[in-house]
Amino acid sequence: MSGHDTGPFHNDRYEGPEKRPDCEGRGGRLGDPVGSATGCDDRCAVCRLKGHLSKVTRAFKMLSGYTQAVLRTTDETTLLNDACKIIVGHGGYMMAWVGYAVCDAEKSIRPVAAAGTGAERVAEIRLSWGENPLGQGPTGTAIRTGKPAVSRDIRTCPFFWPWRETAVKLGYVSAIALPLICDDTVIGALNVYSGDPEAFDDDEIGLLSEIASVMSFGIVSIRMRMERWRAQEELMRSWRILRVTLDGIVKAMATVTELRDPYTAGHQDRVGRLAQAIAEELGLSSHEVEGVGITGRVHDVGKVYVPIQILSKPAHLTPVEYSLVKVHSEAGYEVLKNIEFPWPVSKAVLQHHERMDGSGYPHGIRGPEILLEARIIAVADTVEAMSNDRPYRPAPGIDAALTEISEKAGKAYDREVVRACLSLLRDGRFSFK
Ligand SMILES: [Fe+2]
Repeated sequence: MSGHDTGPFHNDRYEGPEKRPDCEGRGGRLGDPVGSATGCDDRCAVCRLKGHLSKVTRAFKMLSGYTQAVLRTTDETTLLNDACKIIVGHGGYMMAWVGYAVCDAEKSIRPVAAAGTGAERVAEIRLSWGENPLGQGPTGTAIRTGKPAVSRDIRTCPFFWPWRETAVKLGYVSAIALPLICDDTVIGALNVYSGDPEAFDDDEIGLLSEIASVMSFGIVSIRMRMERWRAQEELMRSWRILRVTLDGIVKAMATVTELRDPYTAGHQDRVGRLAQAIAEELGLSSHEVEGVGITGRVHDVGKVYVPIQILSKPAHLTPVEYSLVKVHSEAGYEVLKNIEFPWPVSKAVLQHHERMDGSGYPHGIRGPEILLEARIIAVADTVEAMSNDRPYRPAPGIDAALTEISEKAGKAYDREVVRACLSLLRDGRFSFK
């Protein structure tokens, strides 16, 4: 009696002599010469040891070959085909194939991989894992019971009749099917054929069960990898959609602001570009650089709250009018604070007129109390504003702008931000054009 429970096939033993008088060493690679070439006693200790070593080597080759296949393969079908080739190549069997259980009315079995003699015929085989004549072979039994099923001589096995003729023509004599179990569910079977009726002894069943178990692990591993990859792809797709939406929101805000204040048309975009370049120059991460650019492109959105007559007044503003203009940074914060940007956009907009020495507005905060993003926008805003005409004055020009920020570096403006801005503009590495 086999030490492995092979279901109804445990009775399907080879009906020949009790045990062929082979040397125990024949457990090596199938097809190897039986016994010792030196004519030693079949049961000698050396032969037995050689046979055992040969089995271990073969098992190691199959398992290590399969492990390498799992590591290098990202596709399940390729992995299973590689496994079949390894079993035939290193295991010395005639043929190996893998079938998956299909949950259809016939409870059919779909071949997904095969290698060896007659592998091309596997697709033609009709099989089932149901309680019907096509489900009584080793494959159907292994899937149905979750246990290995062996047909030790398919020429006489009563359950093998639907496939006997083809199998005998191909030279198969014995067969084993081993369940592939993923997450406690039998998903299919690994099937192996041999030309030897004694091929599947207890040791061999143990080894092949181990291979089937490792194959199941490989299948789970690849499916998890694929699932992770699909989830990442979905996340990337959602992120791309979100970015397009965010870009649209930013553009819409900039357009609304500039429709009311045509004299500053393009101002926010130019401030955004310069601020982004300064952030890069300061060595900020690409994520932070992007956030600074977006903040620049919406930093004056609060001007929608400032009367148009004041925004377009072709003369200097009165103190009252100026106090109305100053509301725009807080108004911008109110507009933006409920949008979940992945950057502190609303807070930086609130602070973009704050100054390092506390002379700014709306709260007169100073130094490190002011976000770096707001300190960058402050410099970029000043340089851009002085480089272009305003309704109440002609442009002082870029040189005057650079003199202004140089003189106020460390006082009104962040010294490092000014240094980065001067470096960019003086070296010609940035242009508003
Ligand atoms: Fe502003």
